[in-house]
Amino acid sequence: MKTVIISNRLPVKIIEKNNEYTFIPSEGGLATGLGDVYKTGNSIWIGWPGIEIPEERQEEVIQKLGELNLYPVFLTQEEINLYYEGFSNEILWPVFHYLVTYAHYEQTYWDCYKSVNEKFAKSAMQVLSRSDKIWIQDYQLLLLPGILREKLPNSTIGFFQHIPFPSYEIFRLIPWREELLSGLIGADLIGFHTYDDVRHFISTATRLLLVNSSSNVLNSNERQIVIEAFPMGIDYDKFSSFTTTETVQREISNFKTGKEGVKIILSIDRLDYSKGILERLRALELLLQIHPEYIGKIELFMIVVPSRDTVPQYSELREQIDQLVGNINARYRSMDWIPVNYFYRSFPIEVLSALYSSADICLVTPMRDGMNLVSKEYVASRNNNDGVLILSEMAGASKELMDALIVNPNNLGDIMEAIVIALKMPLEEQQHRMKAMRATVEKFNVNHWVNNFILKLNEVKESQKSLLTK
Ligand code: G6P
Repeated sequence: MKTVIISNRLPVKIIEKNNEYTFIPSEGGLATGLGDVYKTGNSIWIGWPGIEIPEERQEEVIQKLGELNLYPVFLTQEEINLYYEGFSNEILWPVFHYLVTYAHYEQTYWDCYKSVNEKFAKSAMQVLSRSDKIWIQDYQLLLLPGILREKLPNSTIGFFQHIPFPSYEIFRLIPWREELLSGLIGADLIGFHTYDDVRHFISTATRLLLVNSSSNVLNSNERQIVIEAFPMGIDYDKFSSFTTTETVQREISNFKTGKEGVKIILSIDRLDYSKGILERLRALELLLQIHPEYIGKIELFMIVVPSRDTVPQYSELREQIDQLVGNINARYRSMDWIPVNYFYRSFPIEVLSALYSSADICLVTPMRDGMNLVSKEYVASRNNNDGVLILSEMAGASKELMDALIVNPNNLGDIMEAIVIALKMPLEEQQHRMKAMRATVEKFNVNHWVNNFILKLNEVKESQKSLLTK
């Protein structure tokens, strides 16, 4: 019996250079969070390798990925446009993040979303055995639990959503709302990051599908579906021990040279309008305007990892960021100091680890975020227990990291004040807060998350079986 993980994207993506394929790690919470864990058990991961692979080279890709226990689902360019960029990222992503005016409801997107979910089911059937546990991930595959349930009625299916689940009033705007929910409840266990997401889902499902619920259980066609919160964690030990390696120590000392007396503020995100990047920059601008005493004394290191830049709203956002960074730097910089050090690219973990270790403040202010693992990575990297985390109350992580300075990301004054408080915070208070957060991140790490989910899935299946035999 193995565990079969299915997600839109594999934890590695293929890059083509001179007709050669190379594999590099994928970005985003799902891949970085689960990316190492699947290697430890008896599992296989099914998903899209990130680019269109011509038919004549698909066998080669299946072979190479097979060595890593990965199995590809090949998408055509049209499917990438309509299912991935279209339905997933121009409808579900904005609506689930409460940015409903960004949504484009296109029938062709929906038709393709359905057929690609079928395609994932077909690929899964190639590698699934009857006793396998199936663990489906995220909003790109909401219909897959239902499709697989029809093909394998007695199978064990878990589903975890890595992004928020919106309130009923928001979800019901989607033209295909009942179909999406019916697909999802093909699972036995549905997990979200927070209890609020659980509440929203149960209220939405009972109102739109007219199913009964008692506590966190939905009763549908004599099957019971359990809905529960499983806040995702990170590999604490990896981040904590990484900072002590020679390479990272060298990176840290290179980075710190010439920055004596300057406080470093760090921000790391994928390019996304849900991350509040523009608002964060505006808050920094406000700070420099209202508190000129900090000019020359603070520097923002802002890493934006390229993502979905073929979706129009993402490329527009990129231009707006370029412009705002340019304005702030042009206005406030001096010959030997620059307020915003902006990088539009991804970095290897050694560099990220050095940045986490060197930053006096980590600024994580999404407008809405399922969890946000960057905040946890910062905390895990602070082996001296110093540093201040400023965290949006709209990120799932704020429910656990209560010793961060919690801000409303829409309130620029609030963010600015939090930065000032962080800059002045005595070391003792920093340590007090950081110790408490580190204990949480260490205990509720990614292994805890995986084990808890799988244990619960087994338990749900067992209790379903005993219901049937009664
Ligand atoms: C978020 C989503 C993931 C997604 C990741 C990267 O973490 O929850 O499902 O894979 O972003 O986005 P991308 O569109 O590049 O896969």
